[in-house]
Amino acid sequence: MAVRPYIVGNWKMHGTRAMLAEARAIDRAAERLIKVEVALAPPFTLIHATRNEASLIGVGAQDCHTAEGGAHTGDISAAMLKDAGAGFTIVGHSERRADHDEKDADVKAKAEAALAAGLNVIVCVGETEAERDAGKAEKVVAKQLAGSLPTGEGVAGSLTVAYEPVWAIGTGRTPTLDDIAAMHHSIRVMLNQLFGEAGADIRILYGGSVKPGNASEILAVEDVGGALVGGASLTAESFLAIVVAAAEKADT
Ligand code: PGA
Repeated sequence: MAVRPYIVGNWKMHGTRAMLAEARAIDRAAERLIKVEVALAPPFTLIHATRNEASLIGVGAQDCHTAEGGAHTGDISAAMLKDAGAGFTIVGHSERRADHDEKDADVKAKAEAALAAGLNVIVCVGETEAERDAGKAEKVVAKQLAGSLPTGEGVAGSLTVAYEPVWAIGTGRTPTLDDIAAMHHSIRVMLNQLFGEAGADIRILYGGSVKPGNASEILAVEDVGGALVGGASLTAESFLAIVVAAAEKADT
């Protein structure tokens, strides 16, 4: 891992104020683990409180709207997230793509809105099980990247890509290390094409059933720049075990 590994916890629709104790514990431990960039994406309702509780870790959102503001009941703009203390947002998570029918063009528009508001962006991509079984995984991901990634000058420095096979999310199943390596390599090639030299430093996170028990081997795979962690990010104990695994890799 050439650049600082990035471990991001995606709390999804979990967490009330009681969970701030976990955020505090993660933040406190991050002081000893400075070789790793650590961040949490709590639900919207906890962003401000998490930012207030935590001083070292990054705090971000799980989604944003494409517009700066307006008549969009129930939605949240990137500027509002920034105002609440977010430094980044995830966009294009497969649960958003599936539950809210978000297409690549929507994801790209959200990513561009987030960048315009001064947020960093994590763009998620990943194939379904049927697509992998049909031998189309790399093609599907390449198409998602081409359609979802924001373009333009200076974008690369604010961008992270998360590869999350849909069938690995929350299932306890993961691709083989060879499959992860092949996909991350193909994403890297595409980032180099799209962003030139700057593409080499864009971190590509792996996500999908990352746990304390498999984090070391996954993080050791070439071109895996960190992890996007769902279930195992909900307690400081399991999340920090993954951060420690990343810190050990950063040492080697
Ligand atoms: P999981 O979720 O770690 O619970 O599989 C990952 C994600 O959806 O980001």
